[in-house]
Amino acid sequence: MNPADTPLIDVAAARAILEANDRDGHTVPTDGLYPFQWSWDSAITALGWQTFDEDRAWREAEIMFAGQWDNGMLPHILFHGNAESYFPGPDVWGSGTRIPSSAISQPAIWATTLRMMLDRASDRELAESRLGPLVPKLVDYHRWWYRERDPEGTGLIVSYHPWESGMDNSPAWDKPLAAVPEVDWSYERRDLGHVDSDQRPHKPEYDRYLYLVDFYKRHGFDSQVIYDECPYRVIDVALVALLHRASMDLIELCRQFGVSDGLEDIEAAVNRTRTAIGSLWSEEHACFLSQDTKTNTALDVITTATILPLFADLATDEQARRMHDLIGEWLDASTVGLASTHPASPLFEAKRYWRGPIWLHINWMLALGAAATGRPDLSERLRDDARRCVNEAGFFEYFDPVAVAGCGGDRFSWTAAVALYWLATPCRRPSDTSSDSSRLIDDSQR
Ligand code: GLC
Repeated sequence: MNPADTPLIDVAAARAILEANDRDGHTVPTDGLYPFQWSWDSAITALGWQTFDEDRAWREAEIMFAGQWDNGMLPHILFHGNAESYFPGPDVWGSGTRIPSSAISQPAIWATTLRMMLDRASDRELAESRLGPLVPKLVDYHRWWYRERDPEGTGLIVSYHPWESGMDNSPAWDKPLAAVPEVDWSYERRDLGHVDSDQRPHKPEYDRYLYLVDFYKRHGFDSQVIYDECPYRVIDVALVALLHRASMDLIELCRQFGVSDGLEDIEAAVNRTRTAIGSLWSEEHACFLSQDTKTNTALDVITTATILPLFADLATDEQARRMHDLIGEWLDASTVGLASTHPASPLFEAKRYWRGPIWLHINWMLALGAAATGRPDLSERLRDDARRCVNEAGFFEYFDPVAVAGCGGDRFSWTAAVALYWLATPCRRPSDTSSDSSRLIDDSQR
């Protein structure tokens, strides 16, 4: 076969994963381990659906937003149906919402992915008719973040749970989490029935995760009380950066769809974040550090969260240059991909949840960030490495960056979706003049 005809990834296998994980309009991250709809998984997964079924892609978003709380919050999990195989389920969260849900959110990437879907839609009329009604809901969601999680208007929203970061077990959360009491009731974890314990969080961490879940319920989800008293309150660089990027995308969507209600709040908030983000920059580490606002200390572990401001146009040229150097040296430190924790960190663990493995959707965002800040070479390196992960190991939840092995859940939706959206097209060469392929590549590299 001519090398140009060699498929870059197994497109049919990736599509089959999304189809198998489809549950009547929403996609579960993987069968068994995660049997419901997770917010940021779903946002990424919709991008994958769009490559072969546009109607289904919009449906994914509509179902997610059907679970939005009255106050604008978009829960991190919507429990559609029976929760037997999952812990903690809706009873433990106790949110009592129409569609049972968790009581925290997840990285706010929906406005970003929906804008990408609009730009890439082949059926523009369909896209506009489906996205239009979602835009005011996105505005409510973003206003919720700024209102409830930055009540003092600092420009830096806070998070109340490591799960809210989406990077659940990141070593950056070790110190603030250690200050959280452990639950005093016993429970049975269901995750260990699906995945080896050496790839999952330890029990004391789990006890604290659950304490926090109880805490919100005990305080009737009262925002002011939680802000004042939650034993875990962290400014997570990734949450801040991803919300900021999504707000920029949302402002553009509002313009396109003529939505003005609430827009001023979003515009004011992005200006505040742009000013405030500099306070998280660390000259010593050449990246932005998250902060524990209970103790006012920087969380000095280099994880992929610390460089996500590259994806949000939040770095100065000099900061971007220093982060590019950091990324280059970080890539050199493992066999493949950008590890979720820098391999030089004493807290790096190649296989354990968010303490070292590669997550492809994060590598994708960082590739876009590198390309947008003048380093297409780094962007292509990240893409080539991501292809190597799926081609050598399969469509796993995450990958060991040293052994190039798949870990966590298999046949994972966001991995398949990222592969379809980002990896299935060749890289752009100056000689590539085919309008069709250059359009696809431009979109996926935007
Ligand atoms: C884990 C991940 C989180 C993801 C969820 C479902 O909790 O840490 O980011 O959303 O699994 O895939």
